[in-house]
Amino acid sequence: MSDTDDTTLEASRPPRRPPDLDTDFFAVAGRQRACRSYTNEDVSDETLRKLLHIATRAPSAQNVQPWRFVVVREAHNREAIGRLMKQIWEAGARTIAADECEPEVFRDVDRGLGDGELAAAPVLVVVGGDSRVVHRTQIQASVITAVQNVLLGATALGLGSCLTTLATFRADEMRALVGFPPEIDPVAVIPVGHPRRLLTPPQRASLSEKVFGERYGEPWPG
Ligand SMILES: Cc1cc2nc3c(=O)[nH]c(=O)nc-3n(C[C@H](O)[C@H](O)[C@H](O)COP(=O)(O)O)c2cc1C
Repeated sequence: MSDTDDTTLEASRPPRRPPDLDTDFFAVAGRQRACRSYTNEDVSDETLRKLLHIATRAPSAQNVQPWRFVVVREAHNREAIGRLMKQIWEAGARTIAADECEPEVFRDVDRGLGDGELAAAPVLVVVGGDSRVVHRTQIQASVITAVQNVLLGATALGLGSCLTTLATFRADEMRALVGFPPEIDPVAVIPVGHPRRLLTPPQRASLSEKVFGERYGEPWPG
């Protein structure tokens, strides 16, 4: 089946989501945020296919499409990834985060990584970048476009997701867990599932703090 057929087929089946969920692109992008606690409700392959379809439509340098995805569903495989996250978290990342994060964010991240709530999502999408098609220094930038599409797609469908990179800090162990060869660098683990708690709007700085006109530091009048 071609990608076009795929999309047409999937578009004919309405996704499961609350009826009042605003799917306007700007509304979706404006409410996207990290979800670190999930219900047991499953996410269908049909839904994942939709997310991975838009992931693989992302831009990449020279269109080399270096992203590689492993969809992890089996509980024992998710638990193994969760254990790796917890080990890295407790080996030092937690202490650093406790110093640097807002207490509320820290509590959420701590539950996600330390208590295993992230890996308890029904699906973990492990994302890698293939160094055979893109220089290693460019892998992160080349693959993160695809990751963001997954996050936005999940939000549009009323699902929770979270960009996590902690497990990739021990790349060889992460590779071994999903069978990536040495040429594929792990870039992210994205849990996908139904949020256990209502996600409030993301807290972000105002445009005037981040956007400048003509030269950095000059106010942008727009
Ligand atoms: C590069 C990157 C790495 C991240 N790694 C993790 C991670 O390992 N674990 C985690 O729980 N969240 C991780 N996050 C999610 C951030 O903590 C989250 O996007 C940020 O705190 C904003 O939260 P919000 O989306 O809920 O507003 C990561 C985000 C980015 C962009």
